[in-house]
Amino acid sequence: MSKLKLQHISKSYGTNHVLQDVSFHVDDGEFVSIVGPSGSGKSTLFQLIGGLYAPDHGDITLDGNSVNNSRGHISYMPQNPSLLPWRTILQNVLLSSEIVGSKDTGNALELIEKAGLGGYEDAYPHQLSGGMKQRVAFIRSLNSPQSIICLDEPFSALDEFTRFEMQGWLLAIWEDYRKSVLFITHNIDEALYLSDRILILSNKPASIKKEIINPFPRPRKEELLLSDEFMKLKREIHYELRG
Ligand SMILES: Nc1ncnc2c1ncn2[C@@H]1O[C@H](COP(=O)(O)OP(=O)(O)OP(=O)(O)O)[C@@H](O)[C@H]1O
Ligand SMILES: [Mg+2]
Repeated sequence: MSKLKLQHISKSYGTNHVLQDVSFHVDDGEFVSIVGPSGSGKSTLFQLIGGLYAPDHGDITLDGNSVNNSRGHISYMPQNPSLLPWRTILQNVLLSSEIVGSKDTGNALELIEKAGLGGYEDAYPHQLSGGMKQRVAFIRSLNSPQSIICLDEPFSALDEFTRFEMQGWLLAIWEDYRKSVLFITHNIDEALYLSDRILILSNKPASIKKEIINPFPRPRKEELLLSDEFMKLKREIHYELRG
């Protein structure tokens, strides 16, 4: 049974028809990326999966149970970090586990350290750079108990080098914990480096234009990004997105 399954999802905001008959699934422990043009409805998809809105048509199931318009089942990192300004970094990271009644700070401190934010546990969000805030939001979603994580462009505010470091770190953590991940990105390299499958969305009203099964075996090394096979697939996705 698929972990997460979307069947024939359509969504409009008033007369703005955003999603048209979108169907896909994420299996247990699978890493799936979604790439698509700006404004095609990627974040909207996540808002539907997170239950913030109801789809106009179709059904979303998690472990076989319908989660249409029902919150709390997934761990969701929105495109904008949304940290609570009155809470420290540690308190922000703890939010996701606190909601389900856990008081364990050990894992949170370890994640903060691993994200290069050691020493900032007691700082407040306004004292952090944009990229640092993004990392806090990212580890907050990793620290949550849900078995599927939805990440909406988690690394977009980071410089190339930090982005690459965070990708490696995400892969290492994912290989350890094997949570299911649904990942939105504009960056084709990132999608190819991280995922098992890549779903390409069309322009609005968006549907799934193409599914790419990632042929590169894991663990993936940095050299992969410069290989001919990698470039070839990157080109294919690039033209699919443009055309
Ligand atoms: N809460 C909302 N109310 C009304 N319209 C919305 C809402 N959220 C998104 N939209 C509209 O839905 C469309 C898709 O927006 P969405 O944020 O899902 O795109 P996206 O693919 O995530 O874009 P980007 O890559 O720029 O983040 C846009 O036309 C946007 O104006
Ligand atoms: Mg978006």
